[in-house]
Amino acid sequence: MNLHVVILAAGQGTRMRSKLPKVLHPVAGKPMLGHVIDCARSLSPTRIHVVIGHGAELVRERLAAEDIHWVLQTEQLGTGHAVAQALPGTEGADQVLVLYGDVPLLRVDTLQQLSSQAGAQALGMLTVTMADPTGYGRIVRDAAGQVQAIVEQKDASAEQLAICEGNTGIMALPGKHAARWLGSLSNQNAQGEYYLTDVVAMAVSEQIPVEVAHAVDEYEVLGANNRVQLAVLEAEYRRRQAERLMTEGVSLADPARIDVRGDVRVGRDISIDINVVLEGRVVIEDDVIIEPNCVLRDCHIGAGSHIKAFSHIDGAELASGCDVGPYARLRPGTRLQAGAKIGNFVETKKADIGAGAKVNHLSYIGDAVVGPDVNIGAGTITCNYDGVNKHLTTIEEGAFIGTNTALVAPVTIGARATTAAGSTITTNVPADTLAVSRARQRNIDGWKRPTKS
Ligand code: UD1
Ligand code: CA
Repeated sequence: MNLHVVILAAGQGTRMRSKLPKVLHPVAGKPMLGHVIDCARSLSPTRIHVVIGHGAELVRERLAAEDIHWVLQTEQLGTGHAVAQALPGTEGADQVLVLYGDVPLLRVDTLQQLSSQAGAQALGMLTVTMADPTGYGRIVRDAAGQVQAIVEQKDASAEQLAICEGNTGIMALPGKHAARWLGSLSNQNAQGEYYLTDVVAMAVSEQIPVEVAHAVDEYEVLGANNRVQLAVLEAEYRRRQAERLMTEGVSLADPARIDVRGDVRVGRDISIDINVVLEGRVVIEDDVIIEPNCVLRDCHIGAGSHIKAFSHIDGAELASGCDVGPYARLRPGTRLQAGAKIGNFVETKKADIGAGAKVNHLSYIGDAVVGPDVNIGAGTITCNYDGVNKHLTTIEEGAFIGTNTALVAPVTIGARATTAAGSTITTNVPADTLAVSRARQRNIDGWKRPTKS
């Protein structure tokens, strides 16, 4: 089926009280429109058309992608008018699926269901039954239960207002009728708008079948008009993600206190404590333990690793059995080989830490290659930056870096070499040697402390 998707995103979103166009407001760190585009993409449509108006330039810029056809609607004259702007680009479509840029939690399965139910011959609509449908168009059915029309809240009679089946707005138009229907819409209604919803009555009068699909719950068809509703969507997104993680084999100390804001893949028997944020592309293998208040972004955590409280891991790859934190900061380009250990108040960046190596306390290791079984003492700093360029520090297998060593890069510490505590190392240290680079201690006999005058 030649499927085209049209996403409406031209509205201003005044109630957000924001300089950001409404559809760019994020849910789980991603613009609402981004969620909708991703959902649409999973149906592999021929093309995705996004109708923009308010803040058009910014929206295009933020969500730039080659497969998107941007359509400008300069005046917002109604949902029917908005879809009509995109139609010239849908030539030859069997079906035109209409979505909304501010309805980000729509499930792929629901959309798939609507699309296949409607096919190329029928008009498909997605409805939802609600306790309180205020604001929604009502689905009017005849005595036999056949859909007759959608009546907007502002145009509805008292009797129609009592209907609890609401229009989600999400619709599948048969491509062969779309242009004709949209071309004959009128704006003679309470809002003076061209309503997309009027195509339902047109289909009925032409005896074209109307297929109705139902949303699983209200959340998947809920839009956000203000920041209160945005927070409701955020909470629902969080709930869904927590549920997925638990289903896949993760124990959560509290499902309400974890945030999954990206593409997160997990193994089994993982345990995650409260206030953990997972962002970007994150892979967590089996038997990992994550203690409270950790942020993990774009990283891979090998099996059996233990991430202790308050650690921040960004752009790092950990092999199995690593130990990190508490209060560790692993920055992009960090690689920990199996069983490596990064302790408290240690910062790493572009650092390859060998198997079984330890950096236990208060260190900065940047632009470094550290061999297996190296021990780096507390307070060690790689002086990697000369104010212009970054330089590499290499520490070979089994070396022992004494406490408070400054390693002035570029520099290499040979295998099994030792640096004495407090040394500033500026030249290479050969293997199996001790490097001492500090002033010799003098003890002054009989020296007296000054006294208060
Ligand atoms: C629409 C439906 C209503 C449904 C409700 C669900 C119509 C006439 N009504 O009403 O039956 O229950 O959605 O939320 O379709 N937009 C444009 N350009 C326009 C007009 C709207 O891009 O010219 C976009 C808006 O940015 C918004 C969306 O379309 O995201 C919906 O428009 P809005 O006018 O708010 O429709 P509702 O009154 O909510
Ligand atoms: Ca409206």
